[in-house]
Amino acid sequence: MNNYPEYHASITVTREVENELGKILTRYPEDKLFLVTETNCDKLCRSLIRQTPGFENFKKVVIPAGEENKKLSSVERIWLFLSQNGADRKSLIVNLGGGMLTDIGSFAASTIKRGMDFVNIPTTLLAQVDASVGGKTGFNFNGLKNEIGVINQPVNVLIDTRFLRTIDSPNFISGYAEMIKHGLIYSSEHLEEVRNFDLNNPDLEILRGIIARSVAIKDSFVFRDPNERNIRKALNFGHTIGHAFESLALESGHPILHGYAVAFGMIAELYLSHKVCALPIEIVAELTNWLISVYGKYAIEENQYEGLYQLMTHDKKNEGARVNFTLIPAVGEVAINQNCDKDLIFGALDYFKKMNS
Ligand SMILES: NC(=O)c1ccc[n+]([C@@H]2O[C@H](COP(=O)([O-])OP(=O)(O)OC[C@H]3O[C@@H](n4cnc5c(N)ncnc54)[C@H](O)[C@@H]3O)[C@@H](O)[C@H]2O)c1
Ligand SMILES: [Zn+2]
Repeated sequence: MNNYPEYHASITVTREVENELGKILTRYPEDKLFLVTETNCDKLCRSLIRQTPGFENFKKVVIPAGEENKKLSSVERIWLFLSQNGADRKSLIVNLGGGMLTDIGSFAASTIKRGMDFVNIPTTLLAQVDASVGGKTGFNFNGLKNEIGVINQPVNVLIDTRFLRTIDSPNFISGYAEMIKHGLIYSSEHLEEVRNFDLNNPDLEILRGIIARSVAIKDSFVFRDPNERNIRKALNFGHTIGHAFESLALESGHPILHGYAVAFGMIAELYLSHKVCALPIEIVAELTNWLISVYGKYAIEENQYEGLYQLMTHDKKNEGARVNFTLIPAVGEVAINQNCDKDLIFGALDYFKKMNS
């Protein structure tokens, strides 16, 4: 992989997920194998691993699909199943699903009996390039996303693009945003290959290579700073304003997918990068137009700025609060901990509003 980092974590990008999984299974007793999945993936994705040698020994627990099920009761269901079916420290837990499932399955595996080995098999583009890698696990609690969780690395992540054959277009384009982000924070070369990918006619063989390089970028930041004390924050580009858009959309009863919110957040944070880090405005404008061509326009009103700002500060009383951003001085470079005041943030929202009207 020219100019791309080597993997540090165990990540296997493969055309033969069943064989790769089979190799891992040989290291575990056959009565200690567990499959954790969700209802959609149980129907759509399980067939790809059915030929795995040893698959017939799996004990399977299925939780309901959807972000609304990323909650304590789903974790309890997995814990209970594992506990009642003889799981112990010699067990292997295989998590098959999108980011919702890999987050929750990894958490359950990391916490039961002080931790069991687990493998993630991500089945959405978002999970393949982002969620299944890096060791962040957890669930939503008390109305807050990922409020409870631990950081704990999987034994392996097995990525096979054949799972993406059944993904709908919005979920595909949502995951694509995280690859764009990896290009923006790490490499113009990666950004170009992501841009050149034909979204209207997705070729999963070409995509396999792009995913392999994209996930290597994520892995390199995680390796340098697994607990997000410093450089791992690079991966938050687009997410500070993006999460605010995501929460506002949810509150207003018109939720948007995570990747769309991140794409919109990246537009506003590209403008902040211009203001704070001198990213040339021509580059901001060109990238904005391209992002809008992929993600469509997202209209916001001036009377929403205050609410968005409060979502960024997480503190309604702290009137003058500043917010920390990850910004990019150039494509492929990052500046973490960029402290911005309310005026700067409102300026970025103004830019976003103008470009989306
Ligand atoms: N741990 C991390 O570092 C990290 C990073 C980013 C996101 N996340 C988390 O990931 C979650 C979002 O992930 P997601 O977008 O994969 O959501 P998801 O897991 O809810 O999957 C989206 C939809 O696609 C369906 N699906 C999954 N695989 C499919 C397939 N192969 N074919 C057809 N349908 C399929 C699911 O059932 C669901 O309806 C969020 O909970 C987010 O917090 C975690
Ligand atoms: Zn994200």
